[in-house]
Amino acid sequence: MKPVEIKNDIFWIGSVDWNRRNFHGYSNSPMGTTYNNFLIMDENVTLVDTVAEEFWGTLQCNIAQVLGDRKIDYFVINHLEPDHAGCLALAIEKYQPKKIYTSPMGQKAMMAHFHYKDWPVEVVPTGTEICIGKRHLSFIETRMLHWPDSMLTYCPEEKIAFTNDAFGQNWATSERFADEVDRYKLEELMRFYYANIVLPYSPVVLKTMNLLKEMNLELDMLCPDHGLMFRGEDCQWAMEKYVEYAEQKPKKKAVIVYDSMWHSTEKMATAVASALVDEGVSVRLMSMKYNHHSEVMHEVFDSAAVIVGSPTHNNGILPLMSDMMTYMKGLRPQNKIGSAIGSFGWSGECVKVLTQWLNDMNMEVVDPVKVKFVPDHDALGKCYEQGKAIAAAIKAKCD
Ligand code: FEO
Repeated sequence: MKPVEIKNDIFWIGSVDWNRRNFHGYSNSPMGTTYNNFLIMDENVTLVDTVAEEFWGTLQCNIAQVLGDRKIDYFVINHLEPDHAGCLALAIEKYQPKKIYTSPMGQKAMMAHFHYKDWPVEVVPTGTEICIGKRHLSFIETRMLHWPDSMLTYCPEEKIAFTNDAFGQNWATSERFADEVDRYKLEELMRFYYANIVLPYSPVVLKTMNLLKEMNLELDMLCPDHGLMFRGEDCQWAMEKYVEYAEQKPKKKAVIVYDSMWHSTEKMATAVASALVDEGVSVRLMSMKYNHHSEVMHEVFDSAAVIVGSPTHNNGILPLMSDMMTYMKGLRPQNKIGSAIGSFGWSGECVKVLTQWLNDMNMEVVDPVKVKFVPDHDALGKCYEQGKAIAAAIKAKCD
């Protein structure tokens, strides 16, 4: 795939990772991903970010096609995570840039990753502007969006912002721009990415979106380092989506996530789901045996309620549910109603353990239901009533 000239003398020189299914070791990426990076051919040729190390060969090939016999003068490193800075040491050795610009936290992360001695690193805190010839680049630290070192680079002459992970989606495509692909799919993948990677930093997202608004940046192109880029009116669309995601306004929707040994907890989950559906709530019933925690989190993200289920196992809950609860709590979802269900044989700690997780996430808890061994008609009736109580709480929250 050739480099793509996205603006006059500004080239996308990224790599498409068609086979990536495990993103960063914790999230699924069912459609693959891309590592976007850029080469600006100005008086001082500037490379913005690199790509994952396994694409070093592709990167060199892409650079060669654009660079010809010129040299790269400057590197701008917006983020040090290895999917973007994976080729940094190799690229410095090969291209010998005069300057490497990064944020204050980026410099620290660069040192901790590469333990370099004599790289020409120059720290560029928010507000710093450099001239690369006909164009300028200014830098805005976007700390914790989603690492402390994260930074956005803006070129006022071109009205283009290189936003690194912000606005990214994991989607390996032959197209480069959002206006060339299916919008529904794009939005779904952007939401999936946000729910699993950016969600805990939602307050920072809101602050950053406000800051960008106050700065009155003219935007003609938003270039994230993953997936499709946005141009024209789509820049505003992407920013509005991020504000919507960060606000975490719940929909009239519930996720029931559970694991089951001998189907008792599963029967309880189905009874709760029936009541929710009968009350007009959209429901996702997700067994941890068949759903990855990142897929569950994608559904939890815009749901008003999360019902968690596990039988008691060794005085606790089943391991797949422990994994799910740890993952969910780490992503700090807000504005949720929670409730627990579970069967037990003798000690019966399951709903207590699950409810503790819900309390730890500051959820509004609806009374749990637990059942000894196998639920009978009356026990399933209690689950149905629990579902109705959850539906009432959802309506009170959403209507
Ligand atoms: Fe796409 Fe934070 O790496």
